[in-house]
Amino acid sequence: MGSRLAGATREPGPPSSACDAPRIQRIYSGASLRYLGREEMTRDEAERYVAQAHEWGLADPVVQYILGIEAGRHLVGVVKLRRCPPGEGHVGYVLREDIWGNGYATEAVRRLITFAFSAAGMDRLTAKHLPDNPASGRVLVKSGFERVGPQGGHIHYRLLRP
Ligand SMILES: CC(C)(COP(=O)(O)OP(=O)(O)OC[C@H]1O[C@@H](n2cnc3c(N)ncnc32)[C@H](O)[C@@H]1OP(=O)(O)O)[C@@H](O)C(=O)NCCC(=O)NCCS
Repeated sequence: MGSRLAGATREPGPPSSACDAPRIQRIYSGASLRYLGREEMTRDEAERYVAQAHEWGLADPVVQYILGIEAGRHLVGVVKLRRCPPGEGHVGYVLREDIWGNGYATEAVRRLITFAFSAAGMDRLTAKHLPDNPASGRVLVKSGFERVGPQGGHIHYRLLRP
């Protein structure tokens, strides 16, 4: 997970190493799980996650960009951009709970949007969150997404290329 969105390197690229599995495992733990609807990540699962991210990032076209968010040179979160129908991308993100509230997610999503509409060649982005996760909605609205409304148990958002 060599890419840095909130660190020194501004340009996203494919994740590059499996050595961040312990930090990925830490990110997918604790309070975040409630909003992701999942269980604690195991070490095996974290290693598979990193390997899969690497594979997806190297595919042509890229299946899903999974990019690291760094604070103080440590991986503290990931922001994701999945290719959907032609021209469309779906945005997701998760941060380690002890760094919530510092603007990292918003900064990372803003950079991801720029990347999606330029280098990744997308025209339209979507995102969604559970109704009891207003912080996620705030990140999307601050980043320019438009709230579409509730559907299928989630609140949906979209953003068109300017
Ligand atoms: C959602 C998440 C990514 C936000 O990360 P973050 O780095 O704390 O986000 P930011 O600091 O950039 O912005 C958070 C905003 O939400 C606001 N917020 C936090 N808790 C809130 C609440 N309970 N109600 C309303 N707004 C809230 C903050 O005040 C801030 O807005 P502001 O800048 O206008 O004050 C993080 O909480 C997380 O990883 N959660 C678990 C995983 C998750 O929910 N992923 C998204 C799944 S759809």
